[in-house]
Amino acid sequence: MADWLEKWAGYTRMTEDALKAYLLDDDAIPVKLRETMAYSLFAGGKRLRPALVLASCELCGGEAKTALPFACGIEMIHTYSLIHDDLPAMDNDDFRRGKPTLHKQFGEDQAILTGDALLHGAFEIMLDGCHDFTGVNAVRRIAHASGMRGMSAGQWVDVTLTGTGFDEATMRYIHLHKTADLIRGAIGAGADVAGASKEMLARLDTYGQEIGYTFQIVDDVLDVEGDSAELGKRVGSDEGNHKTTFVTLFGPDGAKEQARLHTARALEMLEPFAEKGNFLRELALFLRDRKH
Ligand code: IPE
Ligand code: IPE
Ligand code: MG
Ligand code: MG
Ligand code: MG
Repeated sequence: MADWLEKWAGYTRMTEDALKAYLLDDDAIPVKLRETMAYSLFAGGKRLRPALVLASCELCGGEAKTALPFACGIEMIHTYSLIHDDLPAMDNDDFRRGKPTLHKQFGEDQAILTGDALLHGAFEIMLDGCHDFTGVNAVRRIAHASGMRGMSAGQWVDVTLTGTGFDEATMRYIHLHKTADLIRGAIGAGADVAGASKEMLARLDTYGQEIGYTFQIVDDVLDVEGDSAELGKRVGSDEGNHKTTFVTLFGPDGAKEQARLHTARALEMLEPFAEKGNFLRELALFLRDRKH
């Protein structure tokens, strides 16, 4: 396995071990709720956002373990967002992370509440991991990225305008907020914990925004051209839901060109980091070319 992939696998192991320790053995959580949280959380996601938190902390001179609560918290927020995104009231999808969606398996009531529990639990685990203002900055950044100015706003505009055939600026607003913001928040939070300089933070923030756009553009392309078994989720969901995406506005080739442009901009941001930026460089290229 390439060095950078081994690094990613190591970040994934750290995050999954910490999440298991935090959630699975606590008798204060109803057994059935532990089961539904575990069903969605340990179903084999890519763990992109935790890897970004831990890698950016290390890149900025910190120790990965100090950023671990934030890596866990952001994966819990991401998982809650997927559970709610799949609900019949939103994208109405039956398949996620290679399994039936949570509402298909356990019912909508349990899916809504499991999502809520993961969201609030995320803030508990992150606040438990705050030892000084660097942690508080990270929590604040993640709250901003996931809330009413971030992911929830993007999802709101996505579902309320679905089927109305909106323009490029609106679609970019949706992609920036529903997806790029949490990715951007992940990389910024790792840098916050390490006490990164303003200049480093600004570069990493732009890197996060650009790979975030790429991530959702490729998600849109894979929804048309991908393989459901490899993706672990349904293809054709966007067309079925009459979504306006990068593919509907630019076509598959135009969308791929957009992904290349955003990736090039992300790579530019890493130049001053020289070879220390290699992990984030490889990751950006992987996200551009991924098939799952
Ligand atoms: C899917 O995210 C939702 C989007 C933001 C497009 P991921 O593709 O990161 O999902 P997992 O975590 O690997 O399942
Ligand atoms: C959702 O975008 C982004 C989230 C905040 C969950 P999509 O609706 O395109 O994500 P998938 O394709 O269902 O994973
Ligand atoms: Mg959606
Ligand atoms: Mg969806
Ligand atoms: Mg999608």
